[in-house]
Amino acid sequence: MLRRTLFGLAPALVMAGTRRPWKEVERMIETGGFKGRLSVDDLPTPALLVDLDALDWNIAKMAAHCKQKGLALRPHGKTHKCPEIAKKLVAAGAVGACAAKLSEAEAFAKGGIGGLLVTTAVIGQHKIERAAALARIKPETILCVDNPRNAAELDEAARAAKLRLNVAIDLYVGNRTGIKTGAPAAALAKEIDGLKGLKLAGLQAYAGHAAHRNGFEARRELSRNVMATAVETKKLIEAAGIACPLLTGGSTGTYNIDCDIAGMTELQPGSFVFMDIDYARIGGPDGPVYKDFRHSLTVLTTVVSKPSDAEAVVDGGLKAFSTDKPFMPIAKGIEGIGFAWGGDEHGKLNLSKASRAVALGDRLEFVIPHCDPTVNLYDRMFGVRGQQVETCWAVTARGMSQ
Ligand SMILES: Cc1ncc(COP(=O)(O)O)c(C=O)c1O
Repeated sequence: MLRRTLFGLAPALVMAGTRRPWKEVERMIETGGFKGRLSVDDLPTPALLVDLDALDWNIAKMAAHCKQKGLALRPHGKTHKCPEIAKKLVAAGAVGACAAKLSEAEAFAKGGIGGLLVTTAVIGQHKIERAAALARIKPETILCVDNPRNAAELDEAARAAKLRLNVAIDLYVGNRTGIKTGAPAAALAKEIDGLKGLKLAGLQAYAGHAAHRNGFEARRELSRNVMATAVETKKLIEAAGIACPLLTGGSTGTYNIDCDIAGMTELQPGSFVFMDIDYARIGGPDGPVYKDFRHSLTVLTTVVSKPSDAEAVVDGGLKAFSTDKPFMPIAKGIEGIGFAWGGDEHGKLNLSKASRAVALGDRLEFVIPHCDPTVNLYDRMFGVRGQQVETCWAVTARGMSQ
């Protein structure tokens, strides 16, 4: 309140009296050790913020859930792309991290994370060369495979490098990649079993379409049905005398469904660390809002223009939020704000129903529509508790989509 008044009346006083000089802020961020000395108001915007209390709560809840259900937790790192968050998850009991792509896995490995599972197939000579190099550093790494030709190429590279690569057969249980469950997957397992350069770790079954199925009962039915085919496939492989210890899958939307499917050994949810608006809309057992995890991720913006009492413009637009969803960012801590895209750099706010006044220079935080691609827009994220900035983490795997 005080800051808003000062901003409106005497901006120079605000800059000199209540804020650190920009160069000092950047120096503090670069050198670290600013805990207790840096406020959210000091940060240049747009900025990606993580509410550390909410993040810790989400991590503790998922870790306790997996422990109680006797399942391993290998959270998907495609959401946060940040080794520091992966380390927090490992400290809470995770066995490692999933990575969507090889380059993401390389970034996690460089950041000190082991127990990596690359959840998409590694196709082509260069990727296979890189996979072998990664396995040399982190031999426990598991690669997904859904095709006999790819398996044969991985085997050849592994033998040439005098390595044994761990592979998981990616099953088609959703609407994307994978080999068909049942006999085709069992045949691939048999082939892999005969290849000296490969070791079958088990199966991956990720049903993305179930993760976001609206309504808890509908989601439970869909996930149970598709995951049953994965469990049957595991049994089929084991009945042929082939060891198949791993069955990994699941998501933020199905973590409390897949955990009760006998045969699952591991969950690989990602979005639960941040929770976005997309996930809030899938519905929970007790109503239309999915409340199992807290919204920890926001984009901090500044009001940079005030065309009228009922309008404001913030400095976050298409380059500050991922825009692949048909709904808008939601202001945190203030009700009734309408948001519309104002182009690459701006968001247009309708304040006619806002629960409080908004002035030029105000800082407004927005909960984001879709977390993974929004994180991918930022080099760093700030961990905050209340108004205090506690940490700055590099989004090391940003842009690592190879
Ligand atoms: C293979 C795989 N596993 C797990 C996840 C995590 O899902 P969620 O972020 O919905 O928890 C994803 C997300 O896209 C994925 O692609």
